[in-house]
Amino acid sequence: MERWKTIIEPFRIHSVEPIRLTTREERERALKAAGWNLFNLHADDVIIDLLTDSGTGAMSRDQWAAVQHGDESYAGSPSWFTFLESVRELWPYKHVIPTHQGRAAERILFSVLGGPGKVVPNNTHFDTTRANVEATGAEALDLPIPEALHPATVHPFKGNMDVTALERLLDERAEEVPVVFVTITNNSGGGQPVSLRNLRAVRTVCDRHAIPLFLDACRFAENAWFIKLREEGQGGRAIPDIVRDMASLADGMTMSAKKDGLANIGGWLAMNDDQLAEQCRNLLILTEGFPTYGGLAGRDLEAIAQGLREVVDEDYLRYRIRSTEYLGDAIDAAGVPLVKPIGGHAVYLDARALLPHIPPLEYPGHALSVALYREGGIRGTEIGTVMFGRHPDGTETPAAMDLVRLAIPRRTYTQSHVDYVIEVVRFVAERAAQLRGFRIVEEPPRLRHFTAKFEPL
Ligand SMILES: Cc1ncc(COP(=O)(O)O)c(C=O)c1O
Repeated sequence: MERWKTIIEPFRIHSVEPIRLTTREERERALKAAGWNLFNLHADDVIIDLLTDSGTGAMSRDQWAAVQHGDESYAGSPSWFTFLESVRELWPYKHVIPTHQGRAAERILFSVLGGPGKVVPNNTHFDTTRANVEATGAEALDLPIPEALHPATVHPFKGNMDVTALERLLDERAEEVPVVFVTITNNSGGGQPVSLRNLRAVRTVCDRHAIPLFLDACRFAENAWFIKLREEGQGGRAIPDIVRDMASLADGMTMSAKKDGLANIGGWLAMNDDQLAEQCRNLLILTEGFPTYGGLAGRDLEAIAQGLREVVDEDYLRYRIRSTEYLGDAIDAAGVPLVKPIGGHAVYLDARALLPHIPPLEYPGHALSVALYREGGIRGTEIGTVMFGRHPDGTETPAAMDLVRLAIPRRTYTQSHVDYVIEVVRFVAERAAQLRGFRIVEEPPRLRHFTAKFEPL
């Protein structure tokens, strides 16, 4: 294939899911009925669903075949051993604790390690990670490199942790830090990768203070592919070797198999520390289940085991990362402002820059995501003032950025779907001056973006 420029989907379609092609009038009606909140739509009214890449991917023929091998024994199921072997092939930690999804692993780990007076640093906490740290009374501290805060700044490893800031924190407050986290790739920072070099530097600082390092490894294969492409000396290496290097630099991990597990549900918590593992397993039994299934059916364990074999395939990763970049590059070429460089799983449009006439408190990101749905039936998600603007004391301020995330489900859409998205984004951007802001007419006290109702201004 090296002769040809076009990077094709390395699969054929085996089973099709129809998409209902709605009209603009139908979508107008759907928006009104949903209180202009895209989370309230019936998914049948969405043409291209880019709300999230989590649990929305297509499973392969071999994963569906593996589902048929699912053994539902309560304890010691063969499916558990298949899962364990597949996880350990990439992540050879001593203890692997299955959970129903990533946040369950987070809740269990932070219930043991968190608590008032503690602080957990991360390159950037994903929102469930932050919520689970804070739910224990601990502080969740983001320490990304400074480049990460500027949408237009290009850096090959924009997900890296600020090692100097970590050193400063540990010099002053090491006894309050039960664990250091690094998220690969850095979702909240735009799906940006972390280099092996940065992980090594973080590890050295952790060792100096005898503090464990954990990875939030949801998109580990995408991160490994970026390392292979961009990091000096890594180009000739196999992806599983790069993954095992990442594993060896940490003491444990949390994982959502809904991303690079290529499954629709699942996750795990893994670590080397025996005592910590025992405490975590005790909590697992309380809410998730017995340690050989942990909130998953045997068939889910089988699907994940097979997904982990497929996700490190280079043809898959080349297609995956290139198809996200293809969308981003075309939007960039059309002059629409976006976060650069393009991350692994999503393209982030800079709504504040595109819609300077809509003040942040009239929600430019929301206005743009509603317009993409109204014009083309595309569902993205606002990551901005609607999501982060309201504070526990009731005040409201603009978020740091007003973005619209277009997240790409794995192996689900073809290039013509992506070409359609590009056409719709261009159409909306050309008419940006006509878009108006929104006001919120109803909102819950927390996480308002999921259920708030809006009215166009
Ligand atoms: C970086 C990161 N960590 C943790 C999670 C939580 O995983 P789950 O949705 O499976 O609970 C997500 C999910 O989007 C994520 O992107």
